[in-house]
Amino acid sequence: MEKLEQLYEGKAKKVFKTDSPDVLIVSYKDDATAFNGEKKGLIVGKGAINNRMTNHIFKILEEKGVPTHYIQELNDRETAVKKVSIVPLEVIIRNYAAGSFSKRMGVEEGVKFKTPILEFSYKNDELGDPFINGYYAIAMNLATQEEIDKIATYAFKVNEVLIEYFDSLGIDLIDFKIEFGRYGSNIILADEISPDTCRLWDKQTHEKLDKDRFRRDLGNVEDAYKEVFKRLGIENK
Ligand code: TMP
Repeated sequence: MEKLEQLYEGKAKKVFKTDSPDVLIVSYKDDATAFNGEKKGLIVGKGAINNRMTNHIFKILEEKGVPTHYIQELNDRETAVKKVSIVPLEVIIRNYAAGSFSKRMGVEEGVKFKTPILEFSYKNDELGDPFINGYYAIAMNLATQEEIDKIATYAFKVNEVLIEYFDSLGIDLIDFKIEFGRYGSNIILADEISPDTCRLWDKQTHEKLDKDRFRRDLGNVEDAYKEVFKRLGIENK
């Protein structure tokens, strides 16, 4: 497969065309942003960690029946993926109160919910990814009812699989954001699952092992990414 011209550059990844019309190459950057790009920085080594972590997790999810865009890891930073049309929704699952939920609802970070919460944002940087619900998504033609139903089912399945997996690594999965794409008539998981897009807290110490260390200037940002990578056991694979 041949890598062709760059199609798009996002905040954390670049996307390239290939000589196959159904295949793209994503290339993960070390760049980090927060607050809709207002805060900018670099997390050295993040690109390679997020690439390899996402691929590792996507393979686990495929085995558990969640279809993903993953095709093949090409090198430390680059992966061949199925070309999808992204559904413009940020799909968030929360198991514990944190972040924008805590702010909005006045609930202390770390409080466990009785049941997981599914939440949608409209993926639109100009508007700052506003909070919406399924009715907005359908009314605004962002997705159909059938697509929303599939997305919700897959999102809860991803949560179930990841809670158990991270638990085995001594990590509590506080919340995460995923994105889905249209692939033919199917909906498949796309984008990434990494410390950029999850809140991951050490089970014992409750230390934050994710991008909140960057967002909130907590220090040891690179170490947190490396610690998660180490626990995944894929450093030398
Ligand atoms: P929030 O509490 O700030 O709404 O974030 C919920 C989860 O979504 C958290 O795990 C971080 C992740 N997230 C992203 O991946 N991208 C984003 O742009 C935002 C705001 C959050």
